[in-house]
Amino acid sequence: MAGRRIELTPSAGRLTNSLRDIGYEFVTAVADLVDNSVSAGASTVDILIEFRGSTSLVLIADDGEGMTQAGLDEAMRFGTRRSYTLNELGRYGLGLKTASISQCRRLTVISRRALSRRRLSTRVLDIDHVEESDSWEVLDTATPTVRDFAAATLADGPGTVVAWEHLDRVLPERNPEGGWARRRLDTLADRTSEYLGMVFHRFLADTAAEDRLVITVNGDKVGPWDPFAPTEAGTIVLPPTVLEVELEGTAGFVSFNPFLLPPRNRFSSQDAFEYYSGPQKWNRQQGLYIYRAGRLIQGGGWSGIRAIDEHTKLARASLQFDTDLDDLLQTNVAKMRVNIPPAIRSQLERPVKELCQAAEEVYRQASVLKARSSAPDRPASQQLGTAGASLLAAAMTSGDYPALERIMAELRSTDEALAAALGW
Ligand SMILES: Nc1ncnc2c1ncn2[C@@H]1O[C@H](COP(=O)(O)OP(=O)(O)OP(=O)(O)O)[C@@H](O)[C@H]1O
Ligand SMILES: [Mg+2]
Repeated sequence: MAGRRIELTPSAGRLTNSLRDIGYEFVTAVADLVDNSVSAGASTVDILIEFRGSTSLVLIADDGEGMTQAGLDEAMRFGTRRSYTLNELGRYGLGLKTASISQCRRLTVISRRALSRRRLSTRVLDIDHVEESDSWEVLDTATPTVRDFAAATLADGPGTVVAWEHLDRVLPERNPEGGWARRRLDTLADRTSEYLGMVFHRFLADTAAEDRLVITVNGDKVGPWDPFAPTEAGTIVLPPTVLEVELEGTAGFVSFNPFLLPPRNRFSSQDAFEYYSGPQKWNRQQGLYIYRAGRLIQGGGWSGIRAIDEHTKLARASLQFDTDLDDLLQTNVAKMRVNIPPAIRSQLERPVKELCQAAEEVYRQASVLKARSSAPDRPASQQLGTAGASLLAAAMTSGDYPALERIMAELRSTDEALAAALGW
């Protein structure tokens, strides 16, 4: 090669600071660490979000396979050098570091690899140290609190403890000891539990007990929140569509599974209706749930295919892909977002439209029934309304929904009263 080659090493201090702002929130940062635990084969992940004023800390302990000393050193490197198998949750070699420093100034990782030996490996990434030394150095000494916690947690076998201390992005700068700071940590614990319950619901509810993941937050078990309300008899499972996509000559598949959730009056209970409303409530929880290797990346919203609308709030659909399509879907580092490329978007338009039309119908029927529920002929009209809904569901399932739509339009013009009674 002609000419001289000049290597310019990045400024560790400056770069580390910039990497604090690549778009994590507290809950997504914790989820990225849980990804690591899942990849390490953990069956239990215990998360402690502990208020201690300015020395408050977050601890994430798993019983996965752990790391050797050399493995831990590589893990602490920005851009861990390693390869991945299909559907491993990691991708960038960054999450452990970037997720952690998005929330704290001091990340400690303590790991035990072997069942036979109790040896623990410790590494600390301290932003103050990186800034002062302007070097990519890590340290090897944990604070007594973290050291003692890890010693106790890892006493029985392999696993890894991740600790976040000096939570400058979490606690208020002024008065980290106050009641406000305490309430903030409490709220974050609740939101973490809710978010992990959604993102990892498939792992938490795995039907084979030996594969099932248990996550706890401050001692409370995280329950799976399945956006498709599978236990509700009124949920209508519509036929899936498999989208074929091509990436650099190789074909891949994205599967689209639409669901129509029942309206309030057809939920088993008012509580169930509220529960399935979800973290962002019905309107904003409508839309696409995008899963990468079974782990939810994005929940709710239509990814630009259409707008959120009260009338389609009962429409939810999963979109699932394997990690071999990562390049196509551009999973971001924080695993919070994918970009649906035009090729997939155009294939999605029709099934999404059909799902939303059906959701609007169900919504309309429910409003008609509600308006009429005080009428004297209530039982008969309710039966007709239920029949209308069942016909709708059958048409969706058999793939003849467009035909039923034409029939509905015809009936509305020829026998408006009957159409109304059917909820059409
Ligand atoms: N809890 C853990 N148990 C065992 N190994 C771990 C754990 N956390 C991290 N590692 C190891 O450290 C490596 C680096 O983790 P990091 O999260 O930074 O990157 P990644 O998971 O490979 O990719 P991504 O940036 O997509 O998260 C992992 O690939 C894994 O080998
Ligand atoms: Mg990771």
